[in-house]
Amino acid sequence: MSGPPDHKARLEAFSEPHVAPSILSADFSRLGSAISEVMDAGARVIHFDVMDGHFVPPITVGPLVAAAIGDQVHEAGGVLDVHLMIERPERQFAEFAKAGADSITFHEEATPHAHRALGAIRELGCVAGIAINPGTPVEAVGELNGMADLILAMTVNPGWGGQSFIDSSPDKVRRLTGVSGDAVIEVDGGIGSDTAGVMAEAGATLFVAGSAIFGADDPAAAYSEIAAAAGVPPEN
Ligand code: DX5
Ligand code: ZN
Repeated sequence: MSGPPDHKARLEAFSEPHVAPSILSADFSRLGSAISEVMDAGARVIHFDVMDGHFVPPITVGPLVAAAIGDQVHEAGGVLDVHLMIERPERQFAEFAKAGADSITFHEEATPHAHRALGAIRELGCVAGIAINPGTPVEAVGELNGMADLILAMTVNPGWGGQSFIDSSPDKVRRLTGVSGDAVIEVDGGIGSDTAGVMAEAGATLFVAGSAIFGADDPAAAYSEIAAAAGVPPEN
């Protein structure tokens, strides 16, 4: 199944490998300049973490903040990668699409209707993603082959930035490549210059990094180091 024209153009933006800075670890009092810093260094995918205090304990940001940064990201030639760590995610897809999301990823554990939810995201013209927690087997997304544009493998438990990378993740992502079809594989949690390379070898092409970039003294340099470790061209 394919969606409206926007869907195809957006999917192309995700077909190249990218390091995606997660603004969860940025200074929210100066979000615009934090985003400029990493986009000037070459970043083109900005990862946006939404938490509801139910699916995961913390509460973060929603469509208002996505809309506030959307134009800046798009004008700089980038895309907004929205990761929903929320219950009943279907209720929020339209709001995030309207706010400027280019991809919308929900958790497999958060809805019994993953197949329908992926179709709904494509109908809104967005790249359709599904995320799995560290404890969820890769087979949970195997039946969605052809419906998911993107599969996000959590490499920490969702909810917080700055956690340690789970060592069994490379093996899990290798197994995920066996059931993922053409879907882009995104990894999220504990990714830095020390772990990006092994995840690239395992089959990931989209590397989320929060604290390793925005917690560094020089976020632009940290972005470049992680891109190099992942084998991502600096302009991606
Ligand atoms: C955590 C979020 C991540 C978070 C990653 O649940 O989904 O995107 O920002 O942070 P780091 O890179 O610090 O592990
Ligand atoms: Zn995330």
